[in-house]
Amino acid sequence: MSTPTPIRKVVFPAAGLGTRILPATAVLPKELLPIVDKPIIQYGVEEALAAGLRDVILVSSPGKTMLEEHFDRHPALEEALERRGKTALLESLRAAVQQLELSTVFQDEPLGLGHAVLVSRELVDDEPFAVILSDDVIDAAPNALEQMLSVYDEVGGPVLLVERVPHEAVGRYGVIAGTPIRDGVYRVEDLVEKPPPDEAPSNLAIIGRYLLTPDVYGALAETGEGSGGEIQLTDGLRRLLEQR
Ligand code: G1P
Repeated sequence: MSTPTPIRKVVFPAAGLGTRILPATAVLPKELLPIVDKPIIQYGVEEALAAGLRDVILVSSPGKTMLEEHFDRHPALEEALERRGKTALLESLRAAVQQLELSTVFQDEPLGLGHAVLVSRELVDDEPFAVILSDDVIDAAPNALEQMLSVYDEVGGPVLLVERVPHEAVGRYGVIAGTPIRDGVYRVEDLVEKPPPDEAPSNLAIIGRYLLTPDVYGALAETGEGSGGEIQLTDGLRRLLEQR
């Protein structure tokens, strides 16, 4: 098999209202809530950069300007740090910003994760791409995306990250049915979004990392409302699986 097209772009769906964690998110986008001294979305962005993906596409909503501002330069702050000789802090502030190419597209209505990915279509164009859900912060070495990219090179098609979760928790996730290819890698046979635990095909839950091929857009465009009345990425992937 020839080497698949390299992945350069990464989509961050970030248009949600954060209603599950109000009042923290009344003004502050949930993606900017910190773990220790770093906003959660920055962990995802740094993971992507470390994996060689520099072209970052934010799917945001018109009110969430703070997200783009966070990844912009901060001249007054940088100047103050420079004056005070705080070189390490200055470097940490600039590091991610200097490497990434950021574009933003708005998801005007909260129609679901599948819809959020669909609105990135023009910016991604006809290339394979990654999706990171910044809520899922993953500590791993090599990082999650790097591990998935090596599976992508091997299989030459979409790759999802899954995790075994307790049976009673499967209803909070997209769940796959899979057959093992080798240790830790499954071929996806079916997927279902937020199944009742008794109907779930397994306890392998999709976690917020996807490597996708551009044909997913056609499948998503044909995907109607699913779980929660939203257009689900899992349903789009299920449709894609029928075609390839
Ligand atoms: C989304 C996806 C779901 C996936 C989960 C991982 O659900 O729809 O398939 O398992 O992310 O975090 P959400 O958490 O947005 O309801």
